Amino acid sequence: MADGMKITVLTLFPEIIKGFFESSIMAKAVTKGLIEYELIDFREFTTDKHRTCDDYPYGGGAGMVLKAEPIARALDSLNLEGARVLFPSPSGPLFTQKKAREFAAEEHIVLLCGRYEGVDQRIIDEYIDDEVSIGDYVISSGEIASLVLIDGVYRLLDGVISSDSLEEESFEGGILEYPHYTRPEIFRDEGVPEVLLSGHHENIRKWRLRKGLEKTKRNRPDLLALRNFSDEVQEILKDLELADDKEG
Ligand code: ADE
Repeated sequence: MADGMKITVLTLFPEIIKGFFESSIMAKAVTKGLIEYELIDFREFTTDKHRTCDDYPYGGGAGMVLKAEPIARALDSLNLEGARVLFPSPSGPLFTQKKAREFAAEEHIVLLCGRYEGVDQRIIDEYIDDEVSIGDYVISSGEIASLVLIDGVYRLLDGVISSDSLEEESFEGGILEYPHYTRPEIFRDEGVPEVLLSGHHENIRKWRLRKGLEKTKRNRPDLLALRNFSDEVQEILKDLELADDKEG
């Protein structure tokens, strides 16, 4: 992963983005110098009295389209050499953990936040390296989609969070994460699985692997079709299959 990263966000609503950079783990990453950020309000790059950023679509139809000129001027004011310019949009390929790792290797990512029906296609053609969708649904604010991308990416940079946490989490091994428990040992009459109190690391590891696989099979069977798993994992999957057959 890259040592540090610059993140530039072009938005009509910098206040939506600002809080994220000023809070929690991101704020620490900024203070440590791992992240440098820049928020650009492209309304500042309009030249008309009304500071117009959107207009009706050619060809008719519902909604408004973000105009090319203010965005182009804003982008031209930046040093984009070596930058990866992203446009969150429901029309892009899906954002995955693999994509997050790819973006985390960049030195500079630039995100253009859309609004309304979209952005003039000529901006996408001239400036955008990747259109990226955060999922098969539509949200109204490109700022929220940008924050999803930023959060997925910056946490992978060296020094932001511990590498142990990253290795064990969902998707990294193609398997969803196991359930977690913390104190108290009894909560509303419910205890903690015995094995987690045993101190037996190997049994804990096996239990977690099995629980993660159970959850993946139940919630995201599509993930299990994608991978060549180890012999140990294949054994557990066979066993879960048998258990299902017995139940069902
Ligand atoms: N903007 C609106 N919906 C979106 C989505 N699903 N992904 C990325 N950007 C969006």
